Amino acid sequence: MINIPKGTKDVLPELSYKWRFIENAARETAEIFNINEVRTPVFEHTELFLRGVGETTDVVNKEMYTFEDKGGRSITLKPEGTAGVVRMFIENGLASTPMPLKTYYITPCFRYERPQAGRLREFHQFGVEVFGAKSAETDAEIIFAASTFLNKLGVSKTELQINSIGCRICRAEYNKALKDYFRPHLEKMCATCRARFDKNPLRMLDCKEEDCKKITANAPKILDYLCGDCKTHFEKVKRLLTAQGVKYVVNPRIVRGLDYYTKTVFEFISTDIGAQGAVCAGGRYDNLVEELGGAALPAIGFAAGIERLLLLMENTGASFPAAQKPLIYVAGMDDITRAKAFEIVAELRLNGINAEADLMERSVKAQLKYADKSGAHYVAVIGGNELAANTVNIKNMAEGTQTAVNLNEIYSYLKEEKK
Ligand code: HAM
Repeated sequence: MINIPKGTKDVLPELSYKWRFIENAARETAEIFNINEVRTPVFEHTELFLRGVGETTDVVNKEMYTFEDKGGRSITLKPEGTAGVVRMFIENGLASTPMPLKTYYITPCFRYERPQAGRLREFHQFGVEVFGAKSAETDAEIIFAASTFLNKLGVSKTELQINSIGCRICRAEYNKALKDYFRPHLEKMCATCRARFDKNPLRMLDCKEEDCKKITANAPKILDYLCGDCKTHFEKVKRLLTAQGVKYVVNPRIVRGLDYYTKTVFEFISTDIGAQGAVCAGGRYDNLVEELGGAALPAIGFAAGIERLLLLMENTGASFPAAQKPLIYVAGMDDITRAKAFEIVAELRLNGINAEADLMERSVKAQLKYADKSGAHYVAVIGGNELAANTVNIKNMAEGTQTAVNLNEIYSYLKEEKK
């Protein structure tokens, strides 16, 4: 027996309807906001993530599934969705299409992390990436799209936390302030923080080591260092969110775990799923397209973790629509009536009805037991008498009532009943 790899999960047949519900909500949200689906490869050249996600991030340093393929290329399974979509945008010259370009994806992602509730090595993201628009309205629209998606799922108990981490100009000032603050404490900080001090001091704020966390608690706050443009942008985003009825709190501690962010960053946090509380997160990344070799174009996006949403919905008793069940099970008594049942079911399916007949060569009793277990709404048993009379009793399983229906009119009957 070969087991499933650590940190991965199967979606079993009786649970896949929950996944479909979440994915449908994602697609419906995308449709309302006029966002088109894109699909990019599960693996990319490693270089894309080194440059895109950033070499000082945990994702790149510790968590990537990187390997050499048979042609000697360094390949990485995508740890997140943004970098691949940006590569696609640049490579296909999409900057010359009408802006803004709004895209979404539902994709598996891979991170070699320590598995725990809500943290997997293979997980799935519903993500949105919007290119070409720098306005605060775009930030507000994207956050509103994320919130609309969560509302569709009935996930109401999350808190939206927002922050601004500035642009190149204010970040330079802020990095200087951070270095001045951290310099006297460096000796007491972990090796990763010491390495980040030179390369990317902002990332030190993301350290999970207890000793480092105590020191970073009093570090200068980016909001105090925003330049005029970033400050005005952030104020406007907040005003627009309020105007849209989206509740938020400002959390100046959010820096995000990926290097590409600028200006607005946000996370929808839940307290109902343990330590891994971020169910949906994102922000602006105005320099990434250019950094990866494209035009200087602003962009913004978010991604929601499907497994975390599932966990949250299950933990908070959110309701899923019912799993799919046969509308009717048509049983046969012997070879001849079984063949008739098979024929009837084929015709019902041609008319778009979820109908079932025996595939297991079971006795009638066993067929009825199976029909009951499968949750079929109606059951019809065709015997010699039914065949001779060309009529069958259709039993409504929930109500226990029976109706005699002509064998040729089962579809019309069910159609009427479905109304
Ligand atoms: P992220 O915060 O790294 O951002 O991931 C987004 C979401 O993916 C998280 O909030 C979480 O729900 C889910 N997630 C992340 N890691 C795991 C894991 N190991 N197991 C289960 N779920 C996980 C990004 O990936 C950015 N690309 C989001 C973005 C798009 N920013 C701009 N555009």
